[in-house]
Amino acid sequence: MSYIERMKEKTQKIRQQPVVRILAIESSCDETSVAIVENGREVLSNIISSQIDIHRHFGGVVPEVASRNHILNIIPLIDQALDSAHLTLKDIDAIGVTQGAGLVGALLVGLTTAKTFSFALDIPLINVNHIKGHIAANYLAFPELTPPFICLITSGGHTAIVNVDDYNHFTLIGSTQDDAIGEAYDKVARVLGLEYPGGVKVDKLAQNVEPKIKFVRHDSLSNSYDVSYSGLKTAVINYVHKLEQNGEKIDVPQICASFQHEAVDMLTTKALRACKEFGQNKLVLAGGVAANSYLRGSLTEKCKDLGIELYFPPMEYCTDNAAMIGSVAYYQLLSLDPADLNISALPSISLDEVIDNKNSI
Ligand code: KG4
Ligand code: ZN
Repeated sequence: MSYIERMKEKTQKIRQQPVVRILAIESSCDETSVAIVENGREVLSNIISSQIDIHRHFGGVVPEVASRNHILNIIPLIDQALDSAHLTLKDIDAIGVTQGAGLVGALLVGLTTAKTFSFALDIPLINVNHIKGHIAANYLAFPELTPPFICLITSGGHTAIVNVDDYNHFTLIGSTQDDAIGEAYDKVARVLGLEYPGGVKVDKLAQNVEPKIKFVRHDSLSNSYDVSYSGLKTAVINYVHKLEQNGEKIDVPQICASFQHEAVDMLTTKALRACKEFGQNKLVLAGGVAANSYLRGSLTEKCKDLGIELYFPPMEYCTDNAAMIGSVAYYQLLSLDPADLNISALPSISLDEVIDNKNSI
């Protein structure tokens, strides 16, 4: 029997088990992480090794440096994740791994490791989409949270409003036409001379500052659920360059607060409108920018007024981590086929491909 036939058979059996433990691997960008997750919800261990200090010297993530550090980290992290959960490899039922999106070399380290463990242990391999992982971060923190709900995805690479119909089915409501919100934060941070990672610095500097500058006069997409960040980003960059050319003072906290106010408000307005139009009273935040204090604060207030239940992950699950990948892997294992060993990394899988459910990832 071939590997994949054997894995499909095993998957059927695992579905009957009362307890399913998945060892999950995440290495899509600058965090190497290994977690063990039980039944998609309970985190037995979640070890994260961040490379921020390494990449800070370069002002951003250097892909080749990231891959090399993933290689150094991955096996010790698997050992640590098992030790911390008081388990051995014999207790693991399946391997979950991020297949995309992300940096190709970084993804390949996790994917190759996951394939190797799957083959050596003769257990199923589950290929996970990173963005689905960010959504599932909420399942880890909120045992009562189940689909359907509206999800506002705010990450470094994607920005979208989706209807999460079920664990494995999504409907796209609106998305960014150009830059993602996290990308806009990072580019604004860079022009202001803030150190990588920039998004969090913009957030901190903007705290308690009343926004006064209006960068974009008109939202050309106001009638749709789509957003655009390139206009806002360019307006901020031009504003800063003009001040520099004229030798004028640059009020960094004011620029951060004004940019953030516009960037976040255009999204939250649309997400809340989507809740109303689709008759959904649960709104879930997902992605790295879900850590943003202004986004969390303003949505908390607005949802309270509108009687909408708001969920956002605790800080530890906003940043990239393998536990969220383990959660997705569990729900895929319950209803989709496992992956074959010939799958490749998908560095730029688009959100549409996730939404269309063209394949398990
Ligand atoms: O979701 P994520 O891991 O990216 C993708 O998976 O694509 O999130 C990383 C992004 C970066 O752009 C980072 O600057 C941003 O999240 N970010 C923040 C904050 N913390 C992280 N942006 C604004 N405020 C924050 N507090
Ligand atoms: Zn991420």
